[in-house]
This record gives sequence, structure tokens and C-alpha cells, in this order.
Amino acid sequence: MSKNSQHGQWSSRLAFVLAATGSAVGLGNIWKFPYITGENGGGAFVLVYLTCILAIGIPIMMAEVMLGRRGRQSPVNTMRDLAKEAGSSPLWSWLGWVGVVAGFLILSYYSVIAGWAMAYVVRVASGVFEGATADGVSNIFGQFIADPEKLLAWHSLFIIVTMLVVARGVKGLERTVKFLMPALLVILVLLVGYSMDQGAFQQGVSFLFEPDFSKIDSDGVLTAMGHAFFTLSLGMGAIMVYGAYLPSNVSIGSTVIIISIADTAVALLAGLVIFPIVFANGLEPGSGPGLIFQTLPIAFGHMAYGSLFGTLFFVLLVFAAWSSSISLIEPAVAWLVENKSMSRMRACIWAGLVTWLVGIGTVLSFNIGADIKFFDKTFFDILDYLTANIMLPLGGLCIALFAGWVMKKEVSANELSLKHAWVYAVWRLLIRFVSPIAVIIVFLNVVGLI
Ligand code: PFF
Repeated sequence: MSKNSQHGQWSSRLAFVLAATGSAVGLGNIWKFPYITGENGGGAFVLVYLTCILAIGIPIMMAEVMLGRRGRQSPVNTMRDLAKEAGSSPLWSWLGWVGVVAGFLILSYYSVIAGWAMAYVVRVASGVFEGATADGVSNIFGQFIADPEKLLAWHSLFIIVTMLVVARGVKGLERTVKFLMPALLVILVLLVGYSMDQGAFQQGVSFLFEPDFSKIDSDGVLTAMGHAFFTLSLGMGAIMVYGAYLPSNVSIGSTVIIISIADTAVALLAGLVIFPIVFANGLEPGSGPGLIFQTLPIAFGHMAYGSLFGTLFFVLLVFAAWSSSISLIEPAVAWLVENKSMSRMRACIWAGLVTWLVGIGTVLSFNIGADIKFFDKTFFDILDYLTANIMLPLGGLCIALFAGWVMKKEVSANELSLKHAWVYAVWRLLIRFVSPIAVIIVFLNVVGLI
């Protein structure tokens, strides 16, 4: 089965690395990783998260890229054809479906938070944070999220901008990411410099890297594992669909390792920036989704050229969110184009409209709907829990089972074409046993069965 994708191909390995890193690095690294680390007590959470990246994330990412490249279509159709090739049930195409739904749901709230970042570009640039105190910064954030109309306007703008890029197709992505990643890294390193100088750096480092297992419970372990999937964009077909556009001669193993290292580095750097500021200003590490919006502006308000760097930072964050959101909706768009013979433009309008509508629920979760809760969770909390903690790990589990047990050994060996036989043997061991068993244990532990 050697064919090309009807949606085009990456021009080179670098283009794929950039696009996949663009998908992986996003709000998950800079917005979500610090606040969930804060909510789950720090070091032990980080250690579990890093272990999950190594033992579950990397092997599953290799599997996902491999399946995508072998099938060369949207995840739904890829899974159907690969199952057929392996002589297995067409029901595997459900895996693709779950991914399409997860992509919609994640993008619906992702876009609301990306809207916050857009709004902060304007706020920081206007200089309102200059000399601001921690309380002042918190108040500005509180007033902002209390206003549903503002949140809705930014959410709408972000969806439009995302769908415009998706409508232009694969080629549109490459150029966007090429300058973005290095710039983001440079500014993060600069901010680490600020935190070393002005923040409680030692305390921040201890919080992040000294594990205290009494601070993490089974739900925290699930969140850490779910985040490993979320941050690497795994378990829902986003990386599979990018794999579908990968030229056949590119080595999957080393490419995946580069992407994972870049992604992890950005998350850890973000943690190293934020926690020293949290502790130096007596803030609460577990204060939730507003954490970066309540800490970083303090730094920007006090450092030399802070408004300039701050503006640049939020612009980059918006770009990082943008290159991730594109991959969240690509599986759905690719499917609409393949199966409903829609033009890319039409497919984007429909997908964008549905996502925008669902996003209104998240907009309201932070203000007038904040008290509407099921199981003590707002609409936003439920979407986040359902997608990151349940759907992505479940999707990843199925991908591991398919790649390890259903797909023929010769096929996966041939498609991965790893240079050394032992590397393939390690991968196969991880994908058949370690990753699936780990996911199952974490699930069983959360529901109290073990
Ligand atoms: N990996 C992205 C982030 O960390 O922000 C989020 C994401 C993108 C998750 C694409 C899943 C996905 F398919």
C-alpha cells in the first residue's frame, strides 16, 4: 500500500517536524502544564508526567505517525483501510471517529483560552501592567473573565483565524511555524532569566523537581497521564493525519524524539518562569486556569522593556495556540472533504461553526455559568476532563493495541524502518505491553478497582 495523500505532502522532513512540533507546543505547555502542576502539588506530578512521556507518549506517537503514513487518509478512513489490510474488523474506524469528536471538543475550549491570550496582547501592549501589584494583576484578570461578551468576541476571532489557515490546506501551515518555534524558545529563555533574577527561583525549582508523593492522588496521576497525551497531541488522530502527509523516506523514530524533546523543554521552561514568580509574590500555585494570566503580567510590569517583551510573548503564545488548533480540526476537515465531497472551504465553515457554538459553553463557565455544575465541575472542567483524561488516553490505548497486536509485525517493522533491530524490539515491547498496561492501570486506579 504505497500511495500519496489527496491532501498533499510535507515538502521535507523539517516541514513535518515543524508542523508536528507546532501541533504539540501550544497552550498545553505554557498555560495548562503550569496550572495543573500547581494544582497537583508540583514535583511528584512532574515526575509522573515525564515518565508517561517516555513510556507511553513516545511509543504511541511513533505508532500514530506510522499508521497515518501507511493509510494516507483522514484517521477514520485510514483506520478502516488498515484494519482491512490486517484482516481485522472495520469497527476500528471508530477510533478515527472518537478522534474527530475529541478534536471538536478540545478546540471549542482551546479557542476560548487562546482568545484570552489575544486579549492580553492588547492589554500588555497598552501598558496597564506597568508597575502593577500582584493584586492589581489579579483584579484585571478577574474583571476580564467576568465579561462574557468580551470572551465571546475573542473566541470568535480566534476560530475565524484558525479556519482561514485550515482552509488553505497543508502548505499553509509550514510557513507559519518556521519562525515561531525558535522565537518562542528565545523569549522563554529570556523570561527564565527574569525569574532567576527577580523570582524565588530556588523555591520554584524545588517545587517543580522535588517529588513529594503524598501530594498526588490517583486523579492527579490520571491528569499527568492525560496531559502527556494532550501535550503531544496524541490519541485523537491529529498526529496521524500529519503522518499521512509525511514522505515515505523519512525516519519516524528520530523525528518523534526531536518533537517530544522540544515539547517537554517548552513546558519545563514555562514552569521555571512561572513558579518563581508565584512564590516571590505570595501567590497560590493551585489557583487554576488563570495562573499564567495572573503571574506573567507581574514580571512584564516590572522588568525593563516589559511591555515590549510581554506583547511579544503573548503574540507568540497566540501563534503557538494557532498552530495547535489547526491540527485539532484537521482530522474532521480531512474527513468531510473525503467523504462528503465538500470543498476545503465549505468543510472549514461547517467545522468552525460547530466548534464556535460549543465554545460558548466554555465562555459562560467563567462568569454567568460558573455556578452551573455537574459533579462539582463547570462545563469547561467537564470538557477538559472528558477529553484530556478520558478520550485521549482511550484513543491512545486503542492505537497502541492496533499497532502492537493487530497490525502485522512485518508491516510495522517495514513502515518504521528503524536502523537497529533492538530499537524496534524495544518499541514493540513498549507498544504491546508497557503503554497499554500503564493506561489501564491508571484508569482502574481512578475508578477504585485497584
Ligand atoms: N498539544 C496541544 C497543546 O499542548 O497545546 C494541544 C493539542 C493539539 C491536543 C492537537 C491534541 C491535539 F490533537
